[in-house]
Amino acid sequence: MSARYPAARPRRLRRTPALRRLVAETRLRPEELILPMFVKEGIDAPNPVESMPGVVQHTRDSLRKAAQEAAEAGVGGLMLFGIPEFKDDRGAAADDPGGIVQRALRDLSADLGDDMVIMADLCLCEYTAHGHCGVLTPTHQVDNDATLERYASIAIAQAAAGAQVVGPSGMQDGQVGAIRAALDKAGYTDVVILAYAAKYASAFYGPFRDAAEGAPQFGDRAGYQQDPANAREALREVELDLDEGADMVMVKPGLAYLDIIAKIAERVDVPVSAYQVSGEYAMVEAAARNGWIDRERAIMEALLSFRRAGAAQILTYWATEAARLLR
Ligand code: PBG
Repeated sequence: MSARYPAARPRRLRRTPALRRLVAETRLRPEELILPMFVKEGIDAPNPVESMPGVVQHTRDSLRKAAQEAAEAGVGGLMLFGIPEFKDDRGAAADDPGGIVQRALRDLSADLGDDMVIMADLCLCEYTAHGHCGVLTPTHQVDNDATLERYASIAIAQAAAGAQVVGPSGMQDGQVGAIRAALDKAGYTDVVILAYAAKYASAFYGPFRDAAEGAPQFGDRAGYQQDPANAREALREVELDLDEGADMVMVKPGLAYLDIIAKIAERVDVPVSAYQVSGEYAMVEAAARNGWIDRERAIMEALLSFRRAGAAQILTYWATEAARLLR
């Protein structure tokens, strides 16, 4: 009686690294990575973010240097977040032409020009004293329509300072339409809108709130960000943003929302981005510091999973390091 052998042996194609490289279905490239960066007004030296080892709040100078390093590593884009020295109820520093993000945008545009895609996060939470993503009603709700006027003005300030892409992340209804109309009217028809289309009310933003100093002083964001229970709602958010003129759409957070990325990527023809957020970064760094996980492998595996799910671009705090590893 002859031995019975499996008719199919998928292991054959896994035997050597060269074979695995040959048949890899998904690839990751440095130019698909976008580095989120924090720049803080009124500090003399970079300020480490405790809950995100390796991430700092930059000075204008250290930002320029880190942006240059990202560019040299081949990173495709930078997403800027500003932390002003003074905050008020309407986030006046957000659309001040002399505000920290506008200054930093001018610096980076002068240094990097069109060789790097320079993006600005467009929201109010880093700029308001109360830490919510918009202006408030007398009963302390975020006032959707009054906030849209603020966003429109911020978009113009960012575009004037050299932002090639604005990323509205406040999850107010109609924000993309309001921003597109304002940009067009002011002559910035070429400025791209990367809509944080499906942004969930997530615990994984915890460390970011240290980094950007934008934690809500009361309540939470569940009244405007999406409920983690919902997937179809994300498709509706994306549809609305595309109708309003979004050029690209983003899903955020990343790892806990790979299903959402996959659904959206199947459905729409614009680039879909994924944001690997602060809590995803902190989890890997913390586990690695304890010797509980192989840090580099975990980073690269998570990044690859976004591409496999259908994301074309990935926002990641590891962008520069990952780009170097990929080279
Ligand atoms: C707010 C904003 C947040 C993040 C990006 N933009 C925080 C929030 O909505 O609370 C989170 C990013 C991260 O956690 O890395 N405009």
